[in-house]
Amino acid sequence: MAGSDPTSAKATVDMLVAAARQAREHAFSDFSGFKVGAALETDSGEVITGCNIENATYGLTICAERVAIFKALSEGKRAFKRIAVVADTREPTPPCGACRQIIWEFCGDVDVIIANLTEIKMTLRMKDLLPLPFDKRLLRR
Ligand code: THU
Repeated sequence: MAGSDPTSAKATVDMLVAAARQAREHAFSDFSGFKVGAALETDSGEVITGCNIENATYGLTICAERVAIFKALSEGKRAFKRIAVVADTREPTPPCGACRQIIWEFCGDVDVIIANLTEIKMTLRMKDLLPLPFDKRLLRR
């Protein structure tokens, strides 16, 4: 079965990172000069990508991770396996706080693969990136 075989799991992670690197090329990053790409894998193995999109107001910037997630949600995708994030940094570039909230709420405790242009730096679970999250469980009375 695909997914239980460690060889195919690695191939999928490498493909996801490659997709994030490619998506990064589309970044609108004129203001920061910092390009980011993301690739989100659905439970059925589809890959939806995103890049950061900045604009002249600065404040309306949206990160690559949220672009990928909102694209996927808007196409009716609802269940996700993992997300890869790529930036051209030597230190790992993790998702910002806003993205952690959105990844947690819409993707759950997925693997977050952090890579740069040449290597995978680390893989973390969302619950470790966002301990003690606020989410819809708390809205139930
Ligand atoms: N950015 C992302 O797209 N994802 C991250 O994980 C970190 C930051 C973007 C936002 C902004 O366009 C630029 O990187 C600099 O903060």
